[in-house]
Amino acid sequence: MCGIVGYTGNAPAVPVLLEGLEHLEYRGYDSAGVAVVSRDKGLQIQKCKGRLRTLREKLDSLPPLEGTVGLGHTRWATHGEPNDVNSHPHVSQNGRVAIVHNGIIENYAEIKQFLLHKGVAFRSDTDSEVVAQLLEYCFNDHSDPLDAVYAVLDRLEGAYALVILCADRPDMLIAARKDAPLLLGYGDGESFIASDATAIIAHTRDVAYMEDGEVAVLTRAGIQVFDQYRRPVEKEHHTIEWDVSAAEKGGYPHFMFKEIMEQPEALRQTISPRLKGGELCFDELPLTDEKLRSFDRIYLVACGSSYHVGMVGKYNLERFLRLPVEVCLASEFRYSAPLVDERSLVIVISQSGETLDSMAALREAKGLGGYILAIVNVVGSSIAREADAVLYTWAGPEIAVATTKAYSTQLALLTMFGLWMAKRLGRADGADYAAVTAELELLPGKLEKVLADTGIYQYLGSQYFSRDCVFFIGRNLDYALGLEGSLKLKEISYLHSESYAAGELKHGTISLIEPGTLVVALATYGALIDKAVSNIVEVRSRGAEVVALTTESLAGKLEGIATYTIAIPDTHPALQPNLGVAPLQLFAYYIALQRGCDIDKPKNLAKSVTVE
Ligand code: M6R
Repeated sequence: MCGIVGYTGNAPAVPVLLEGLEHLEYRGYDSAGVAVVSRDKGLQIQKCKGRLRTLREKLDSLPPLEGTVGLGHTRWATHGEPNDVNSHPHVSQNGRVAIVHNGIIENYAEIKQFLLHKGVAFRSDTDSEVVAQLLEYCFNDHSDPLDAVYAVLDRLEGAYALVILCADRPDMLIAARKDAPLLLGYGDGESFIASDATAIIAHTRDVAYMEDGEVAVLTRAGIQVFDQYRRPVEKEHHTIEWDVSAAEKGGYPHFMFKEIMEQPEALRQTISPRLKGGELCFDELPLTDEKLRSFDRIYLVACGSSYHVGMVGKYNLERFLRLPVEVCLASEFRYSAPLVDERSLVIVISQSGETLDSMAALREAKGLGGYILAIVNVVGSSIAREADAVLYTWAGPEIAVATTKAYSTQLALLTMFGLWMAKRLGRADGADYAAVTAELELLPGKLEKVLADTGIYQYLGSQYFSRDCVFFIGRNLDYALGLEGSLKLKEISYLHSESYAAGELKHGTISLIEPGTLVVALATYGALIDKAVSNIVEVRSRGAEVVALTTESLAGKLEGIATYTIAIPDTHPALQPNLGVAPLQLFAYYIALQRGCDIDKPKNLAKSVTVE
């Protein structure tokens, strides 16, 4: 979604802003802009539709924007089409304030109407512009910009991360947050603000996360933060541990490819601190045995790929724990009168920790008395902070819009948690526990083996890139895995694909299978291999071409049946999707590459979805 970066210091602001925006490009955007303020020239703004390079070209062709205080924005359109005028920053009618905004101002129409009656002329179709116009209007009654900001915030409904520049206060930036992330960066004689640490990590690792209701005033001398009642707040500082190189491509053609290849290492980071001497340990969790015993059901709540993690998790957790597990789409959860109560363990899964639907579901579940455990990648993110307990995946920054290493690490972590909980409750089968933990040790190495040769995926990409539609089929864990394979393909290659529980085909979908239809058949789940084989035969006999994914020990069963068979190393069934997902990621990657798609930034998609 939209990205924000702000700077105040002694250096020219524009290069700092553009570099920060470059690091935010991965979030997905359709236009970009910057604003600076200086004593001599007041507010100066440039913005346009398109990629950051278009903005750079525009800036290069004009006299430089001079100023050491400024803000930048990448916009992902919600209200008003992507065009130059709707791009941020938005400036008030008489040029007194410029703002950038992430989120949605829900009562913007009402505020706009009010201001129109006061004679204010609007330029854009956005909800965001009302903030700039309302601020300028409030300056009539409040000479202190902070008074005006509080007066405006009082009237806003919805979600916002706002950063504001005032023409008559060229020494400072003001920021406000509600339901959209903002973090403050502390430098030496300079201060930063951003929607995401990647934008400022090259300058400072010393950060603090803004909370809902807080307002910050940034000057080069430092940052003051106030709560919603304007009382000063002492912020807790955090150090960003990961290196800037983790957010760079490092010689790989795409972030997605880099992140696929990083999965073995990411899994080590997830697994090793929690697996000691063959025993699972979650020292980071404040959950007592009594609390664990109190849960009579589990909800797995998430969106997109994180939801697919939940789909795999349901099979594993129900097997380990013999407790009912419900997987819920976060966007549906709060509108479905969920039966959550104090006996419910609600596990919210999110890479970014900022997905608005997941956050809203978390709050709904918390309000109903559920215990919230978050599985999150981004340290200090909103979901991590609002949960009762958090498990970090430690996968490092994930930049490509299509998630890969976050999915893998979430999957491993959820399986480990389920098994650990089963052991604590005395429900774990001893042999199973030993087998899974032994395989967890081996998992990163086995995944390295899967990723060692990408030739077959490259070849399949060249064979199948021009198809119109692909079906993924599988049973049980393979069905859950197919959902992720299909989403990966759709989001980066724009190729239509469907994922089905293989047993469902005969209930309708098989009518779509005709000579030449491509079917990716997942057949890694040993317990149901014969049924998987029957389903492959079923589609083959209707003329489908089948790419089958199976394990080394099951490959013999598929001999002469599929068009192509890929065999991956065997592991414990509960962990098999962790190895099975990599071929599906690579398959999607090479198809998208052949189709000439913008792999890291697929059209219409954003990395972190902070609108409902
Ligand atoms: O950051 P989250 O895990 O909460 O994001 C959820 C989905 O938006 C995300 O998984 C999305 O589906 C990805 N683009 C999938 O690759």
